[in-house]
Amino acid sequence: MKKVIVLGSNGQLGKTIKDFTDSSTIDFHFYSRSDLDITDKTKLETLFACSDFDYCINCAAYTNVEGAETNNEDAYLINADGAKHIAEVCNRFQVKLIHISTDYVFDGENNEPYTTTDQTNPINQYGKSKLQGELYIQEQLNEYYIIRTSWLYSLHGKNFVKTIVGKLKSGSTLNITTEEQGTPTSCLDLASFILYLVTSDKVPYGIYNFTANGSTTWYGFAQEIAKNLPYGNSDQILPTSKFKTLAKRPQYSVLSLNKTEENFKKLNTWQISLREILSEMQA
Ligand SMILES: NC(=O)c1ccc[n+]([C@@H]2O[C@H](COP(=O)([O-])OP(=O)(O)OC[C@H]3O[C@@H](n4cnc5c(N)ncnc54)[C@H](OP(=O)(O)O)[C@@H]3O)[C@@H](O)[C@H]2O)c1
Repeated sequence: MKKVIVLGSNGQLGKTIKDFTDSSTIDFHFYSRSDLDITDKTKLETLFACSDFDYCINCAAYTNVEGAETNNEDAYLINADGAKHIAEVCNRFQVKLIHISTDYVFDGENNEPYTTTDQTNPINQYGKSKLQGELYIQEQLNEYYIIRTSWLYSLHGKNFVKTIVGKLKSGSTLNITTEEQGTPTSCLDLASFILYLVTSDKVPYGIYNFTANGSTTWYGFAQEIAKNLPYGNSDQILPTSKFKTLAKRPQYSVLSLNKTEENFKKLNTWQISLREILSEMQA
């Protein structure tokens, strides 16, 4: 049985992976931030030295994109240095690493989906810190998967879907930006790809994009949420092009899925995956 450590297990992706544990044949070991802080390399070393893990799944990250603009020290400490520590211990103890990265490593100037070999050029501090983490991993390891994903949502934690559902329920009117084009991604879909990497043990190492199929704006995403709820009314959602944020956002961050689909399977459209989560939320 493969022995797998999951870091950052209290985040929405970590918790979604945990939901899979009952049905899987993997020996999972979940570590939240309070169990193991990835900025503490000594603790990582001590644990890895006596644990004999086959895989490490790193879901730990500084994910506050706005916060990273004013608090970029923390963003770098966790997303860059933390990833470096993990890569170093994986190298030393021969553990394969699955690390989650982001569409925000790109500048958004493309007009077709970004492939895994396209030039990176992050335009905000979060994206820069995540890219530095990727580079450290590639320096240290051969046996790694870096998975770039986008617009994650799930039943857990704070995310766009849960926020919009809550606001629609309370009857609020919402102004949602039409300015960015990207792809909403269900943590359930991403977790199943991660589990496939571990169980199949035959996918070539390297960088993969993972999102649902298709793309939309945040406004289109919110409209689709409203359309699928019994109490949702799409008139509550108004388009705006004047949504001000501290962090610059890539205008277009759609990721090409060709390499992932060749190695895994055809992926759902974002609308189908969204419906699955919304019906679980209603259940
Ligand atoms: N959310 C998105 O839309 C999105 C989009 C693209 C890529 N990603 C990437 O996907 C991955 C998973 O994201 P997510 O949405 O699941 O994020 P999340 O819900 O914010 O979870 C991140 C987890 O990391 C933990 N963490 C933070 N600093 C840590 C440290 N020093 N040591 C150990 N754990 C630490 C957090 O702990 P606390 O709970 O204590 O804060 C939290 O539980 C991340 O790599 C993120 O960059 C996310």
